[in-house]
Amino acid sequence: MRRSVFLVVAAIAFGVPTLATPFGIKVPKPFPKFVTEFAPISHLFSQEKAMPSDIAVHLTHVVPQINFTNTSSSVTFQSIGSLGSDVFLTSMDPVETSPAWLNTTDNKPNAIGFTVAPATIIAVEKPGGILDAYYFYFYSFDEGNPGPGHPPGNHIGDWEHSMMRFVNGAPSILYISAHSGGEAIAFNATIKTNGRPTTYISQGTHANYATPGNHLHGTNNTLSDHTDNGALWDVTLNYRGYWLDNDTTTFTMADGTTAGLLEEFTSGEGVGWLNFKGMWGDEQYPIGQHGQFCDGTNCLFADGPTGPVGKNLGRHLPCEHEANCTILTSLVMGVS
Ligand SMILES: *[C@@H]1O[C@H](CO)[C@@H](O)[C@H](O)[C@H]1NC(C)=O
Ligand SMILES: *[C@@H]1O[C@H](CO)[C@@H](O)[C@H](O)[C@H]1NC(C)=O
Ligand SMILES: *[C@@H]1O[C@H](CO)[C@@H](O)[C@H](O)[C@H]1NC(C)=O
Ligand SMILES: *[C@@H]1O[C@H](CO)[C@@H](O)[C@H](O)[C@H]1NC(C)=O
Ligand SMILES: *[C@@H]1O[C@H](CO)[C@@H](O)[C@H](O)[C@H]1NC(C)=O
Ligand SMILES: *[C@@H]1O[C@H](CO)[C@@H](O)[C@H](O)[C@H]1NC(C)=O
Ligand SMILES: *[C@@H]1O[C@H](CO)[C@@H](O)[C@H](O)[C@H]1NC(C)=O
Repeated sequence: MRRSVFLVVAAIAFGVPTLATPFGIKVPKPFPKFVTEFAPISHLFSQEKAMPSDIAVHLTHVVPQINFTNTSSSVTFQSIGSLGSDVFLTSMDPVETSPAWLNTTDNKPNAIGFTVAPATIIAVEKPGGILDAYYFYFYSFDEGNPGPGHPPGNHIGDWEHSMMRFVNGAPSILYISAHSGGEAIAFNATIKTNGRPTTYISQGTHANYATPGNHLHGTNNTLSDHTDNGALWDVTLNYRGYWLDNDTTTFTMADGTTAGLLEEFTSGEGVGWLNFKGMWGDEQYPIGQHGQFCDGTNCLFADGPTGPVGKNLGRHLPCEHEANCTILTSLVMGVS
């Protein structure tokens, strides 16, 4: 029998300004406490402009397209789960007009790390006493970084994640995503903020790093991501939480906090949206459209990304790309 918990979240107790009235929501299977106790806490870049976004807001500004052609006139949490993997959720506003929802400095976290944009946390239980908790960060816009012969590859929609692997409830390994790779680091070795692993989110690209500073990447290290001790983002203050049963590929609701809890449990969002295998932003524009230009293999605008379901949630090794997974036991410092 599932344990039922009546969880009363007093938003005021957290000093969160948005929800004035306490509310009660029945949560069928909340996360074990360690999922939030050891959740990574992140520093956004001090000059960041593409702040975290609420997927509920994002969905009101996009329309499903295949090959640049509408397949319906709008999308909802309920409808996207049945869309194909070839669908691009495409902005109704031309990107070059810089609509406010793509330029969300309003969502900058406050002094305690709360942003109005809920994060998404997904936990997966695996053999060997393993629980992998995935902390997903969503931004409506990714501003890529340019380099020699390298147009930035901006895109609409940006899903990044970190993952904490717990073994019998104890924090073991942190994985953080960055561009097409990422890195796994022993929990021991990570920088801590009040006992929680600390990560650094790079300007515009939102790649995640374990240390502040500049991080070279790209072919021949010609590009540099910038991270520093900018605004803290504590995802535990506002998130939607889910379980994934990897054996049956079934998502269920777990718990949440503040706006994320309310939206998940009282707006009829359901869990079907997590099955959407298509892209959360526009398809790469043809040259000349929306100011698109390309140089070699890179373009001003790239394709939007897949969502959480496309990030190897059933992984055995802690890395998203298991073929090359080294677990670092000491930190590689950023350069200045
Ligand atoms: C996409 O649309 C263009 C122009 O409408 C057409 O020429 C092309 O064949 C289409 N491609 C696919 C894969 O359907
Ligand atoms: C596609 O859908 C959007 C949103 O409903 C609408 O504004 C736009 O005009 C549609 N485009 C075409 C070509 O029908
Ligand atoms: C956001 O707005 C600023 C100034 O208003 C502009 O310089 C910048 O290009 C915009 N960014 C995006 C991603 O639209
Ligand atoms: C790292 O963790 C292991 C257990 O996983 C523990 O035995 C060891 O003492 C830790 N090392 C440090 C430096 O904390
Ligand atoms: C990277 O370095 C190799 C070897 O020096 C060179 O052939 C290649 O053109 C470089 N690629 C870029 C994108 O600069
Ligand atoms: C999760 O499911 C996938 C797809 O069925 C499978 O390949 C993978 O081995 C599973 N992972 C675990 C940890 O069992
Ligand atoms: C494997 O990962 C390491 C560490 O991130 C990296 O230095 C190396 O280039 C990667 N190798 C391949 C073949 O991707």
